[in-house]
Amino acid sequence: MKIVIGADHGGYLLKQAVAVLLKKLRHVVVDVGAFTNEPSDYPDFAKAVAEHVIKKKAERGILICGSGVGACIAANKFAGIRASVCHDTFSARQGVEDDDMNVLCLGARVLGQELAAEIIKTFLAAKFSNAPRHRRRLQKVTAIEKTCRNSGTPSQETGNA
Ligand code: RB5
Repeated sequence: MKIVIGADHGGYLLKQAVAVLLKKLRHVVVDVGAFTNEPSDYPDFAKAVAEHVIKKKAERGILICGSGVGACIAANKFAGIRASVCHDTFSARQGVEDDDMNVLCLGARVLGQELAAEIIKTFLAAKFSNAPRHRRRLQKVTAIEKTCRNSGTPSQETGNA
C-alpha cells in the first residue's frame, strides 16, 4: 500500500521509526516531513498528508504530532479526510471498518514505539466494511461536509439521527 506520513517536531522521531516499519512491511512510503526536529507547525504536515490522500497520491495517511490532536484537527478541515487519533488497536480497526478512516493520527508524546507499531499494523490491515448502515452514516457525514463548505455552518437539515 502507498502511505503518506507526516509529523511536526513533536512527532519527528516516531515518524522516522514509522518509516522504517512501513518499509519493512513492504509498503511504499511518501514522507512529507518534517525532516528535522527543529520546531515546525503541524498544520503544514496535515495539509501535505491530506492533499496526498485526497488526490489519491497515497491510499492512506499517518500523521504524528505531540498528542496527535492538533494534526487531527487540521487534517479534518480537508473535505474527504476522515482522520482520528487512535491510541488503541480497537479504534484503529473499527475506525476503518465502520467509519472509513483514511488518516491515522498518533501522539508521539503519548505512545511508545511498540504500541504505535501495533496500532499502525491494525489500521493498515483493516478495510471499510461497506455495510449499508455505515455507508448511510458516511453519506450523512459527507452531507455535513458539503453544507459547511457552502455556508460555513452546518445546515439544520442533515437528516435524522
Ligand atoms: C507541539 O509542541 C505540539 O503542540 C504539537 O506537536 C501537538 O501535540 C499539537 O497537538
